[in-house]
Amino acid sequence: MYCYREIAENLYWIGGNDRRIALFENVYPVPEGVSYNSYLLLDEKTVLLDTVDRAVSEVFFENLTALLQGRALDYLIVNHMEPDHAATMAEVVLRWPGVKIVCNTKIQGMIGQFFDFDLTERFITVGEGDTLPAGRHTFRFLMAPMVHWPEVMMTYEETMQILFSADAFGTFGALSGHIFADQTAFRMDEARRYYTNIVGKYGAQVQAVLKKAAGLRITMICPLHGPVFRRDLEVLLEKYDRWSRYQPEDQAVLIAYASVYGNTQNAAELLAARLAEQGAPEIRLYDVSVTHPSYLIAEAFRCSHLVFASTTYNAGVFVPMENLLRDLAAHNIQNRTVALLENGSWAPTAGSLMKGLLEKCKNMTFLGDPVSIRSAVKAEQAAAIEALAGQLVQSLRAD
Ligand code: FEO
Repeated sequence: MYCYREIAENLYWIGGNDRRIALFENVYPVPEGVSYNSYLLLDEKTVLLDTVDRAVSEVFFENLTALLQGRALDYLIVNHMEPDHAATMAEVVLRWPGVKIVCNTKIQGMIGQFFDFDLTERFITVGEGDTLPAGRHTFRFLMAPMVHWPEVMMTYEETMQILFSADAFGTFGALSGHIFADQTAFRMDEARRYYTNIVGKYGAQVQAVLKKAAGLRITMICPLHGPVFRRDLEVLLEKYDRWSRYQPEDQAVLIAYASVYGNTQNAAELLAARLAEQGAPEIRLYDVSVTHPSYLIAEAFRCSHLVFASTTYNAGVFVPMENLLRDLAAHNIQNRTVALLENGSWAPTAGSLMKGLLEKCKNMTFLGDPVSIRSAVKAEQAAAIEALAGQLVQSLRAD
């Protein structure tokens, strides 16, 4: 049965929620599920903005069919070709053969890559600043390459001043009836985890889009995942500005440790205790073996100071820690103060190897040499850990 929601006059959310999915993009845990948002405007023309993942196509078509009430579908605006939004467009075309596909040339190329049918006759090609009148409403198009794929564009509706932002401003988590963020228990942590993992690598491109958005009056942001925003937009925009400039949000210490038998964990716990005693405002300790990297990527984007503690394993860095550090570098983490601890019973190498991985990142400040432990913390290393805590607290206060 259809269950669309009207979010503005004649504008409807017609997406769906997937609560069975374990891993979004087959990599990111989504314990609260995920929503795939699609929007429909009913004006002199009927305009669909993006489609949905196959997982929710049934309710999507029920929503679309119920709202059209036998009218033709005039336009499908395609902002992003990733299959979680575009997989269902083939069936839209089959059901409404007269529909025109409004998109840029890169999207047209990707349609040809994903699908076998020829849509050439149906394309309305748009570029930066082009407009599409639909009656009382007019859509304007903004190119947003690499937010999150190269073909991405955003669509701005001029009458209602609504930005359809594609993946940008998305949040993990299914919707529960309410569509607006101000009506839900909005999870900034899940918005952060979504942004940093999905788009985090492309800060420069996000900055370019934010500059375009600054020139628009925006009353509502409609992303392709998670709730719609109509209040306190400046809060979210400020977060995006900070995340995309790779500036930390909080003076906080993230300690991520990789430990086989608990001795490296002990070193990390000792550091946390000494930090607390010396007045560190916030300390977060995580075991990388049991914490999905997506949560640690998000925390690394939030925290100003990062500590990595790893045992040496096969003459290298313990596997979950190496994965995390490579993932952080791939997401372009920058501008952080970093401290390292290593452990090794006969040839500790994890410290220098971790440093080598993080030196690829821009503007990382390393606090001294790695604290090196042989099997278990002894008095000498405990003193080094206390000294490191002092350096970190001094740095936290100086920033
Ligand atoms: Fe939600 Fe880049 O797709």
